[in-house]
Amino acid sequence: MSSPENGTEFPRNRQPTMRTVAMPADTNPYGQIFGGWIMAQMDLAGSVLAIEYAQGRVATVAVHSMEFHQPVTVGDLVSSFARIERIGTTSITVRVEVFAQRPALCVKVTEAVIVYVAVDGEGQRRPLPEHEPAFQSVYG
Ligand SMILES: CC(C)(COP(=O)(O)OP(=O)(O)OC[C@H]1O[C@@H](n2cnc3c(N)ncnc32)[C@H](O)[C@@H]1OP(=O)(O)O)[C@@H](O)C(=O)NCCC(=O)NCCS
Repeated sequence: MSSPENGTEFPRNRQPTMRTVAMPADTNPYGQIFGGWIMAQMDLAGSVLAIEYAQGRVATVAVHSMEFHQPVTVGDLVSSFARIERIGTTSITVRVEVFAQRPALCVKVTEAVIVYVAVDGEGQRRPLPEHEPAFQSVYG
């Protein structure tokens, strides 16, 4: 049974990090939305938090535990919710959950844990900036 506590229900108490509509151009040869398109949405949503926290450029260094629970269909309203799970010295670990809404249905379709590293203008890792606890709590 899904509930807000186990994270399978649409989290109405949180703002999505990104929302978009799945379009016909994003389908695979079988008419479902291409998994790579969803992965790109997740990477973008995670990077929104990472860039904000790092106050600048980040690089995606790892994608852990990517799971596809349900297919996405043309016309679905796709909402990505990102939450920072861990702050390291140069890395930010973000959990991204994606929900698809269509008439009379709202399902969690994918989730993943993505690691970003703060990089400088040459693409080399750099330490994350210090933040006040109040700033950090916005992302937790
Ligand atoms: C990002 C990059 C500059 C980091 O350089 P690096 O020499 O690998 O740096 P490190 O090994 O010190 O790792 C940096 C941080 O990432 C973390 N990290 C590296 N690989 C990781 C992995 N597979 N899983 C989780 N964390 C990882 C490290 O633990 C470290 O975290 P911390 O500083 O918070 O403790 C380098 O790996 C790189 O350029 N990678 C390619 C990135 C890219 O092109 N992404 C787009 C793909 S299309």
